[in-house]
Amino acid sequence: MERPYPTLYYSDYLHLETLLSSQHRKSEEYGAPAHDEMLFIIVHQAYELWFKQILFEIDSVITLLSEDPVDEAQVGVCVTRLQRITEIQNVLIDQLRILETMTPLDFLDFRDYLFPASGFQSVQFRLLEIRLGLCPDDRLRYNHSAYHSRVTDEHRQLLIEAEEQQSLFDALTNWLERTPFLESDSFRFWDSYRAAVHAMMARDRSVIENNPTLSAEDKKEQLRDLEATITHFEAIFNPARHEEICKEGKWRLTHKATLAALFISLYRDQPILAMPYRLIAVLVDVDELMATWRYRHALMVHRMIGTKIGTGGSSGYHYLKSTAERHRIFSDLTNLSTFLIPRAALPALPIALRTRLGFVHNNQDA
Ligand code: HEM
Repeated sequence: MERPYPTLYYSDYLHLETLLSSQHRKSEEYGAPAHDEMLFIIVHQAYELWFKQILFEIDSVITLLSEDPVDEAQVGVCVTRLQRITEIQNVLIDQLRILETMTPLDFLDFRDYLFPASGFQSVQFRLLEIRLGLCPDDRLRYNHSAYHSRVTDEHRQLLIEAEEQQSLFDALTNWLERTPFLESDSFRFWDSYRAAVHAMMARDRSVIENNPTLSAEDKKEQLRDLEATITHFEAIFNPARHEEICKEGKWRLTHKATLAALFISLYRDQPILAMPYRLIAVLVDVDELMATWRYRHALMVHRMIGTKIGTGGSSGYHYLKSTAERHRIFSDLTNLSTFLIPRAALPALPIALRTRLGFVHNNQDA
């Protein structure tokens, strides 16, 4: 049978003519060809292609998570696509090694031609941060001006519009807030968890107070630490305190979403929560790998230009190193570990709820 589609040629399909004729060394144009500038261009272009793929995946995950309700099977699809992003991120981190085969002196052969262009102007990188959910207010100021002050008006408009759209962080918050199971007539997760935490803290207090090897001073110090932990937990128990912490910029996820994420993390062994837990875990991975790339890029920049300012005009290494710490998006999910309690101390779920969450044999006790 004849195929209904025209035959295809490899080079045409991939638009290789355009792709492979897009590497123009400035050093060559100015009459002093620098061998390593080709590598510099190709590595940056490869990054931009991967950024495109990451954005494609993020957009699809936002769309899937925004369904109400989200089909269980689609949560698995979200996890798979986010895992794909983490694999790409690992390649992005590794790829810096290829660029580091260029020595700082080789770089100086063409660096002057690049001013004031910089990776700082990568619109796709900014979109990636925005689509993941980096808040404009959380950004480090760049020479006292907005991060998009260095791009064209057209690109700035694109970024401002992207900031107004729903991000992955927003979609995740809404999805978490819709988590069922947290409350029923016979079970209020909140109350059970609070009781378990109080019991655990009382045990810890007793261990410290009755420890014969501790000096009075050590006991005082350890009890002070315990009080600090209890205060931390109180913020989770108390929605008004949680609100204050959010206003102080120390937490971002809403109280309802935080509780849901905590519930999922604590009861992740229940079959129905296994996939939601993987979603939370893979978002922590994405966030960590972003930070790893930022730090790794900062180290490379240090090696290449020392403490000189960047071609884009920032303080270079110092600015970049700080973004690794400050430009985190899902750190609330990472910080959930503070509120985990051992499996043995977890409140038992009522049989009706366990039945809804998984597979329970008829002869199992309540
Ligand atoms: C010799 C190699 C490189 C050097 C010396 C370098 C240097 C810098 C410097 C100094 C900055 C801070 C802004 C500025 O003042 O210019 C910066 C930002 C940036 N660079 Fe690079 N870079 C290099 C390679 C790369 C590569 C391969 C990428 C991949 C796309 C990249 C992406 C970025 C991005 C996205 C930013 C903005 C980071 C932020 O603001 O959080 N850079 N780079």
